[in-house]
Amino acid sequence: MCGIVGYTGGQPAQEIVLESLKKLEYRGYDSSGIAMHEGKLVICKKEGPIANMEAELTESKSTLAIAHTRWATHGAPSDVNAHPHSDEEISIAVVHNGTIDNYLEIRESLEAEGHNFRSDSDSEILPLLISKYYSGNLVEAVNKTLDVIRGIFTIAAIHKDNPDEIVAVRNETPLVIGLGNSENFISSDIYAILKYTQEMIYPEDYQIVRVTSDKVEVLDRDLNLLDYNVETVEKYTEVAEKGGFEHYMLKEIFEQPKALQDSLTELLVESPLERLGLNWKIGSMSIVACGTSYHAGLVGKYVIEQLTAIPVSVSYSSEFRYAAPVQGVGGLLSSRPLVILISQSGETADTLAAARAAKQQGCHTIAICNVPGSRITREVDGVIITKSGQEIGVAATKTFMTQMQALYALAVNLAFNSGSLDHPQTKLWESEIRKIPSKVSQVLNNCESIRDLVPHFVKAKSVFFIGRNINYPLALEGALKLKEISYIHAEGYPAGELKHGPLALLSKDTPVVAIAVQDHTYSKLISNIEEISARKAPVITVAQKGDQLVPKISDHFFELPDIDPVLSPFPVAVFLQLLSYYIAHELGTEIDKPRNLAKSVTVE
Ligand code: M6R
Repeated sequence: MCGIVGYTGGQPAQEIVLESLKKLEYRGYDSSGIAMHEGKLVICKKEGPIANMEAELTESKSTLAIAHTRWATHGAPSDVNAHPHSDEEISIAVVHNGTIDNYLEIRESLEAEGHNFRSDSDSEILPLLISKYYSGNLVEAVNKTLDVIRGIFTIAAIHKDNPDEIVAVRNETPLVIGLGNSENFISSDIYAILKYTQEMIYPEDYQIVRVTSDKVEVLDRDLNLLDYNVETVEKYTEVAEKGGFEHYMLKEIFEQPKALQDSLTELLVESPLERLGLNWKIGSMSIVACGTSYHAGLVGKYVIEQLTAIPVSVSYSSEFRYAAPVQGVGGLLSSRPLVILISQSGETADTLAAARAAKQQGCHTIAICNVPGSRITREVDGVIITKSGQEIGVAATKTFMTQMQALYALAVNLAFNSGSLDHPQTKLWESEIRKIPSKVSQVLNNCESIRDLVPHFVKAKSVFFIGRNINYPLALEGALKLKEISYIHAEGYPAGELKHGPLALLSKDTPVVAIAVQDHTYSKLISNIEEISARKAPVITVAQKGDQLVPKISDHFFELPDIDPVLSPFPVAVFLQLLSYYIAHELGTEIDKPRNLAKSVTVE
């Protein structure tokens, strides 16, 4: 939440940081701002999307800039609460991502010293503190400020005395340094600066980084110079353009066959379990995640338990760390418990906290993540990288798909390893997994029939999604997608649970989306559809190719490609994503940037 970029080098900085900042808009879009050096510090900041701030800018020759896009925590979205913040003399400009826990007491003591605050933001204390401690050395001033503040943060500061220096530091929120040729960058993620460099440094918490155009220095809290690793990251295709699609979300939905295909190579490699350090008999497993990633985890539970008989519990990250310690089978750690953390961004605060709790309890931790080099990938024992490419739309789509795929591949590998699948069965599973991209494409090719369903939803105040067994998590995901981007209230339910309460809410104005695949729960689901129809609620069913019964008892019907029910979550997900997208489109909402949300949730 909140995105930061900075540049110092030989080129006009404004254009570079603006272009990079736009790639971080997924992290927040309440306001944005930029600080540059034109003999003195010049700051421009504006409420609303980056385009609002950009419209206020004039040409600049500054070769130094820091910029910020905000997701509001302290203080409403407004010009004055936008970053960069500065001291009264505008000698220092600071951008901040995160929250300062003790800002109120610091603010009171700064006010007592005669400082006037202009904003409601916790971040405004930072330039005032840095200015207070500044005596010609920005690194020292930032270091002294770190003695005083508590919280989570990435901070970047510039001073009017030096037109070629950015000082940055992080604690628990992301910061990468990009190395260029006589120019260097700072950023909240690699994607924002990948156009300019693939050489990255990932500073640790509380390491202070001094960036000039020809040097990057990393210092500890005693201001000793530290050695650092430079990592070369893979170049991803530029995603700045929507490629002819109206929204990133739609583009990303259509990219799913490719994302699945690209991830396959990584997932079905030789000896993946060894690479993940999974060389012991796993007695139990927990999957921990938030939001859409949690739903992928629920799907994973069904597949892993079915193929391996390893018991799997799935928890929300925000609950996991407060729950009782993870137990190995037969009591404390008799078999080392495995905890799989799923996070597309790799920086969700709740999931990071859960990862740390799991490690403290002696669990083996594995992350399924879409962002190489992200925080979680650096903290766990093993990493599965999904290769969806950058996802910009706040609603997770293609990353959900590859998370599920990763869990299926893991289940197959674990099953082979434990002997519950033999070699031919394993090969059969792998060949089924390889077919998923083409099944997903078939749904995409049929997108117009999904769009045709939109009129049955646009006037609804509430929509229910139901499924059973492996498609129950898909019902949850369908509801999350719809509420997130269309703002229509939606609930996902196990189909058998409606009669235990929610049936009271159904009427002709409450559409129900039923996922009916022909597994062992099919006949029960058919009964549930009948119960809903009897209450006059319209039923829109997604069912397997060739199903003769469902079209007769549903008001509307979408046919999935021919697929084994256990693989149905993939095409079902595409149906649900497109349905939500087309409904939101009809309602005219901000699909890529839904209100109140951000792509990376770095607060607990
Ligand atoms: O980056 P993560 O996978 O850890 O994010 C978890 C959730 O915040 C995320 O899935 C969220 O629910 C999506 N916006 C849903 O579309």
